[in-house]
Parts: sequence; structure tokens; C-alpha cells
Amino acid sequence: MTTREAEIRRHVSESYTKAVTTPGSSCCGGMQPAQKGVAVKSAGYGPELGELPPDAVENSFGCGNPLAFSEVREGDTVVDLGSGAGIDLLIAAKRTGPTGRVIGVDMTDAMIDRARANIAAAGLAAFVEVRQGYIEALPLESGTVDWVISNCVINLSPEKEKVFAEIARVLRPGGRMLVSDIVVESLPEELRRNQALYNSCIAGAISEADYLAGLRRAGLTDVQVRSRHVYDEMQLESLIESEIVDPAEKKRAGGCCGPSCCGGSGDVDVARLARRSAGQVASISVHARKA
Ligand SMILES: C[S@@+](CC[C@H](N)C(=O)[O-])C[C@H]1O[C@@H](n2cnc3c(N)ncnc32)[C@H](O)[C@@H]1O
Repeated sequence: MTTREAEIRRHVSESYTKAVTTPGSSCCGGMQPAQKGVAVKSAGYGPELGELPPDAVENSFGCGNPLAFSEVREGDTVVDLGSGAGIDLLIAAKRTGPTGRVIGVDMTDAMIDRARANIAAAGLAAFVEVRQGYIEALPLESGTVDWVISNCVINLSPEKEKVFAEIARVLRPGGRMLVSDIVVESLPEELRRNQALYNSCIAGAISEADYLAGLRRAGLTDVQVRSRHVYDEMQLESLIESEIVDPAEKKRAGGCCGPSCCGGSGDVDVARLARRSAGQVASISVHARKA
């Protein structure tokens, strides 16, 4: 890992620590906490949310519902990459039942604490756990997993090829992956360099074609997009605005990429950037299988 990649990872972890410990902070998809419930529902979750500890729902930072497209069965072993506060762990547990196992992996201590509290509150600690670790080096044995799921996390990795290789390693033959994530076809350079937008799952995202090619290169088969939601100009504008038009982040954007690329004063023309990026950013659900 390069120094720059380590720095990105540190920023991401700090951002999610803040997101889960500070009221009013933004999250993946640019939603404020008051909007999170709405975001979660529109992300494809159903009535199952009513059965979960409210804290798991309120601290959901995903961009889809990977389990909606999976066929997780009783007794399966499910691993959630970047499990956050645990929403998808709890839903997966309802499908696997106590004869299965559900394992979350996350790098951020505050998120792990939150997920463990939510697992305990749901009474599922006997077969649901969270491990501290990186999705680029999963703390799991090879060939032991029936389903890898993930919700809006792989875009945050500066080493996506390693993540794809790890998915292929931990799946057992016939095991499958269903991941919801953000893909970006092209993005203005000033947005690509913005760490706040990286933390929000946009600036680090790769194109759909590169995503699918990366999974195939890792040796996975049946690689298909099962759903796709392309963000329109208005959705992008509110996302960019919530992430960049914050004095602290604006300053940081000017500081990290230098005044010249941020328009001299650090000002960002949000409407123009949203117009230029409309149709380029999508949330997808991707399926793959280990032969
Ligand atoms: C956008 S949030 C999604 C959380 C959860 N999947 C959900 O839907 O609410 C990203 C999560 O991934 C974790 N994460 C990001 N990069 C990671 C990495 N390289 N290794 C492990 N965890 C990571 C963060 O700590 C954070 O909890």
C-alpha cells in the first residue's frame, strides 16, 4: 500500500467514525440523519426494517440492499464487507437462522462497537459477529463462505483489485457474491481529488465496466449487474452540495489539491459540476459466483 493509499484509508475511517458518533454528520449518499430512514427505504429495504434495532437502521450508510437480490438460505455462512453499524448483518441473520453464521468485517472501531451493540440488542450474538479487519486482507479462511455481501464499501477501497481477489479467495466453490455499490463513468478532476466526496462513496468509484472486469480477472464467473439506479442532476447537486459546500471541507478541498484546481478561491460551482456529472454516477447491485 502506498503512502497516499494509507492516507485515503485513514481519512475514510475518520469520516465514518465521525458519521457514527456525531449527530448531523453526512453519510454515503450525502443524506443527513433526518433523511436516512427515507434513504434506507428507497434503497430497497422492506418491512424487515421494523424488526431491527432502530440504531442499526438510523446508522445505515448503504446505497442499496444487497440481500434483496441474494438467495441466502438457512445454514449459510454470510460475510458482509464493511458491515458498518450492522443493518445487513441483522437481515442476513434472519435468513441463515442459528444454523448459519454471519460475519461482518470493518476497519473502524466506532462502527464495530455500534454493530456489536446492535447484534446484542437483536439477541443474535450466538451466530453473528464482527471482526476488525480490512476488506483487502479478510480475516477469514479460504473457501469457507457461501455468500459475500457488501453495501457501498468497495468504492472506498484504494486497492479494489485486492478486494476482488479476497472475495474469490474466501468463497467456497459455488459460493456467490451480491454487492451494492457506486460506479462512476467519468467525473470532473476537481471532484475526483476531493476527499469529502471520496468518503461519500463517489470520488473513489470506478466505472461499471472496470468493476465487472475486475471481478472476472479475480476468477469469478456469472458476473452480472442485477439492478442499476443512475443519479440525476438534482440528486447529484444535493449530494455534492452537502459534501463540498461545507466551510471546513471546502477549505480542505482547496488545501489538498491546491488553489488552482479548485477555482482559485476554493469555491466550487456545484450546479456546473452536477450538470457535468449527471448520468455518470450510479448505484448498482452486482452478482458473481465462484466456479
Ligand atoms: C458507506 S459505509 C457502509 C456501511 C454498511 N455497509 C451500511 O450499509 O450501512 C462504509 C463502511 O465500510 C468501512 N470500510 C471502508 N473501507 C474499508 C476497508 N478498506 N476495510 C474495512 N472496512 C472498510 C467503513 O469503516 C464503514 O463502516
